[in-house]
Amino acid sequence: MPYLNKKGITDVEVSGKKVLVRADFNVPMKAGNIKDDTRITETLPTIRYLLDHGAAVILISHLGRPKGQVKPDLSMAPVAVRLAEVLGQPVTFINDCIGKKVCQAAAALKCGEVLLLENLRFYAAEEKNSPDFAKDLASFADLFVNDAFGASHRAHASTVGVNKYLPSVCGFLIEKEITRLGEVITDPRRPYIAVIGGAKVSNKILDIENIIAKVDKMIIGGGMGNTFLAAAGHDMQSSLVEVDRLEWASEFLAVESHRHKLLLPVDLVASAAFAADAEHRVCGLDCVPEGWQALDIGPKSVDLFVAAVSGAGTIFWNGPLGAFEMDAFADGTMAMAEAVANADATTIIGGGDSIAAVHKAGVAERIDHISTGGGASLEFLAGKMLPGISALPDKTA
Ligand code: 3PG
Repeated sequence: MPYLNKKGITDVEVSGKKVLVRADFNVPMKAGNIKDDTRITETLPTIRYLLDHGAAVILISHLGRPKGQVKPDLSMAPVAVRLAEVLGQPVTFINDCIGKKVCQAAAALKCGEVLLLENLRFYAAEEKNSPDFAKDLASFADLFVNDAFGASHRAHASTVGVNKYLPSVCGFLIEKEITRLGEVITDPRRPYIAVIGGAKVSNKILDIENIIAKVDKMIIGGGMGNTFLAAAGHDMQSSLVEVDRLEWASEFLAVESHRHKLLLPVDLVASAAFAADAEHRVCGLDCVPEGWQALDIGPKSVDLFVAAVSGAGTIFWNGPLGAFEMDAFADGTMAMAEAVANADATTIIGGGDSIAAVHKAGVAERIDHISTGGGASLEFLAGKMLPGISALPDKTA
């Protein structure tokens, strides 16, 4: 199993140390409010262990994609408030992540206290993996703990740079994720079924190619299903279709082993507009009305997909099957959530939207493992090495 030999928090002395913890607090926000705090609560075991063992904790994370700009709506301030609530103790927030203010706050931080710094991606240097930026981050602490599983597929300064300047270990959340996901990589109960949805195919191409080789069936729906249906020759009208990926999708469909494993929608819910109250109806694949768009899978597809997952031994689900945030287009995704929860299978969900879907369907408690990584869980199960974890030392080092 990959990565199980990484040095962890319990392998090092933390008492009396200032510990820099990279978390993935990239939580879904709406109008300044946190919509789902799973990524915060899942980091608590690491934070609590460090505090209980006499460390001072300095937390860093990204939020959204501000691309090197200071964007007030992507400030970590609301995360500090929620973290203080769930942790049950004050969390000091500093509105920068490097520089004099941070230096002073870190120097004054006592054992048992917590500091949360501002969004790392307000500096372009973070995503560029700038050594100077990594060095600045490292300068506040004696030890680095990476617990940001959700960002571990990114080679950024805070995920692969900082560890060059500080003794580094992996946190409890990363350990839990690699253990649970690792079981699926090494010995999945069969049949192993992947359900892949979400808006776009473009950033999942390599993962889809790798994962289809490992699974017994792959269901593709949602916006990316439209691209496959268009590549198969169906007129998708004004549906979201990635025209520049049609050639790749046609080649993918042309591979015989892919055709045997792949299940695509056989009907759709088409809508006159991308709006909750727009006129909509169930239609066959070649009957999307002129100028309309597919926003959900239809009832025959639901039956087909539910039957497939109900016989599974392992299910990995990443990405919704429709625009489920609008009730009119939620049936396919809600039915899949129910079916995954009801299946007598090892069930793994990854990706913020799929997590929101199982919560909306009220079945989250019945899922075996809800991964805090979207892209990270997909890449891990596709067999890719995750740079943020690879960069951490092994126990023997
Ligand atoms: C995620 O939400 O998958 C992680 O926080 C990574 O975010 P990113 O895709 O913006 O790098």
